[in-house]
Formats: sequence, C-alpha cells, structure tokens
Amino acid sequence: MPSTVVVGAQWGDEGKGGVVDVLAERADMVVRFNGGNNAGHTVFVGEEHFALHLVPCGILRGKACLLGNGVVIDLQGLLGEMRELESRGIAVRDHLLISESAHLVLPYHRALDAAEEQARGAAAIGTTLRGIGQAYADKYARSGLRALDLTQPAVFRDKLAAALAHKNALLTKVYGAPPLDFDQVYAELAPAAQELAPLVADIATVINQALDDGKQVVFEGAQGTLLDIDFGTYPFVTSSNPIAAAAAVGSGVSPKRLHRIVGVVKAYTTRVGAGPFPTECEPELADKFRVQGREFGTTTGRPRRIGWFDAVVARKAAMLNGIEHLAVTHLDVLDQFDRIPICVAYRCDGEQRHTFPTSLETLARCTPVYEEMPGWREETTGVTSPAGLPRAARAYLDRLAEIAGARLLMARMGPRRDQTVVVEA
Ligand code: IMP
Ligand code: MG
Repeated sequence: MPSTVVVGAQWGDEGKGGVVDVLAERADMVVRFNGGNNAGHTVFVGEEHFALHLVPCGILRGKACLLGNGVVIDLQGLLGEMRELESRGIAVRDHLLISESAHLVLPYHRALDAAEEQARGAAAIGTTLRGIGQAYADKYARSGLRALDLTQPAVFRDKLAAALAHKNALLTKVYGAPPLDFDQVYAELAPAAQELAPLVADIATVINQALDDGKQVVFEGAQGTLLDIDFGTYPFVTSSNPIAAAAAVGSGVSPKRLHRIVGVVKAYTTRVGAGPFPTECEPELADKFRVQGREFGTTTGRPRRIGWFDAVVARKAAMLNGIEHLAVTHLDVLDQFDRIPICVAYRCDGEQRHTFPTSLETLARCTPVYEEMPGWREETTGVTSPAGLPRAARAYLDRLAEIAGARLLMARMGPRRDQTVVVEA
C-alpha cells in the first residue's frame, strides 16, 4: 500500500505510536497531520523507552518525518524533544521537516489555556495545558503565527509583538492573570525560531512527490476519534480533527491518495481528562488495569480513567474513519481476567440504542449493555505469531474486528516492538 493512515478509534492513547513504529519499518516517510505536543506517543526500542510528542514515530527508524500543516507547533516543546532525541543518538535534523503553514503554539497560548481552564472551574475540560485549543482558535480567527514566519525574523518579531499585546489584554483584563513580558518571550523564542527555520518547507509538495515516486507514506494521527472537535464528546474534546479525513487536509494530499485506513483500539478503553465515558469502571477494577496497562498519561502523567471495550464507540469510529484494518493494543492487560465484558449497546430511557448520542445529556442517561467473552488466563506477552495466541484471545480479537467491520491487522501484547502479532501484512 503506498499510503496508510493510522488513527485512534477511542479517546486517544490507543497505542498508535507502537503501531506506527511497526508499520514504519517498511515505510519511507511518516507524516503527522493533527494535534500538537498534547499528544504522547510511547515507543520502546528494545528496553529503551521514548516518549514522543511532536516528532513523528518514524524518527526512531531513521525515516523522513514531516509535520503537516494540520499540526500546531510549540517551538520550545519541539526543540526540547529534538535535543532529547539527539542526546540519545537519534539523528533528527536530517530527517525532520515542518510545514510552512503549520501554526505555532506560543507562550501566551499556554498562559491562556491555564487561565481558561481555571475560569471554567468545575466545568474544566482537563486539557493538557499545552495551549493547543488557543493556538487552533487563533488559526481559525486568522490571527495566528505560522512556521513560515520563522524564516523572516523581522516579520516574526512584529507579529509576535502585535499578538502579545492583544493576549496580554485578555490575560490581565479578562482573567486577572499576569501579563507576559515581550522582551523575555522574544529572547526565549528568537533562538528557537532561528534554529527551526531551516526545517520549514513546502510539505504538501514533498509528500505528493514522494507518493509520485512510489514511496510508502504513513500518516500518523494523534488523539482519537472521540476527542475530535466535530465528532467527539464536545466540549470535552481536543481542538483538531484526529479522524482519517484530516490526514488529507492536514498534510496537503488528495483524499484519493489515502489508501489504507488503520484504526487502533485498546483491548479495553481509557480516557484522560474530563467528559463522558459510558463504560468507565469502579476504582478498584481500574487499579487492576492501571498497573499492568501502564495507564498514566505520557504527556501529563495523570492516571487514566479506565473501562471495558465499547462497541458503540468502535462502530462510530469505524464509520467516521472508514476503518478497514484494525490494530488491537494492550491485549496482555486482559490476560488476568476470567470473563471479559464488551459493551455492545447502551440502554437509554428504557430502550436499547446502538449509536453514540451527540447530546451529552442523553449520553449521561445511557448505561452499557454488556455481552461477555471468556478470558484466557494465559500470558500473551511472549506471543509472536497468530498461531501462538490462546484460542479465547484470538476469538476476542476477531470479535473486536467484527464489531468494527474491519480485518484484524495486528495485535500488540506489550510495549516492545517484538510484542506484536501481525495477522495480516
Ligand atoms: P487539549 O488537547 O490539551 O486541549 O486537551 C483536551 C482534551 O483532550 C483533554 O481531555 C485531554 O486529556 C485530551 N487529550 C489531548 N491530547 C491527548 C492525547 O494525546 N491522548 C489522550 N488524551 C488527549
Ligand atoms: Mg498518548
């Protein structure tokens, strides 16, 4: 397949990083198309652990890595990540390019994220406080700074000054927060801008040329379908489109050039931040998952909320993304259970429903209807081939694929590269 799109089919943290890492082995290029350093993609190479936030996972395999126009870029965040990777022997600069049209996340976006979350009080979204929503808001308000501005220092300085004056008014007059000092902000950003400027390029042309040349491209989604600004549990969502269609818009390729859509699901469900979560389980059960499943946020370290697999969510994600291939991660976390519930529908106002309601008020009245699958009570962490999977585990995987109306592509049984069973190449 010339191009593959990898998307999260739940609330993020499905393990897309590991799946992209496996697929990147045979790819030439990996392209991020949405989100910013709110994302946290964890990849293990041998016993070595990497937490990536902006740099595409393909960097660990020495592939060309592109940040598309749909991504928002925190200059200091990106540079910090690049330096960390470089200190561990990964060549980043020779492989990384940033779209000219990608918008920048600037210090005042982070300050406003904190101020707005605080002002929301009990209704806080539980954002990652990375200024993501504020940067996208400026993009659509047509007042943002773009990566292109990094290549013109005088323009960058003027735009930054104008933007900061406006944001300081907001910070001080609306939120009663302290203003940011232009000289200090500029002194921090100017060297970062200068350092990143050589990486800024016309990404759309680069990707289209690569596809013309028969190269293999993986589009790496961040967050998940239920965090989508249009289709997620609004307002408890992120501010971008993590769905497959965004791979086209967020990188500058035609939708016709997206060939294979891979949906990633955890074998159960997690969510970080506030908002509805129909299958969320009791704290004692959540603790059982949390240790084995390493369920702490990669970006914020917050413990994740946990629940059983939700087929209503998976079907919605399958429809919105056009998922044809399913990757199931964290299967090993279920090794410990005798019986494994799957939520197949919701009961709402005395009736069963199979579709996910858009209204959060309706959703709050929904309770899960479970079917149960037998557990396998056998360790799967060492399994490396489909034939090695316990029968009940394979049946569970096949059931998830059936729910999604997709073919099972791979299952992952741990964070390491070799803890992967590729069912279909
Ligand atoms: P924001 O994207 O930082 O504005 O956060 C909005 C919501 O999306 C919060 O509930 C976050 O916890 C959630 N979120 C953002 N990025 C991720 C991610 O990469 N994984 C999981 N949740 C995320
Ligand atoms: Mg994550």
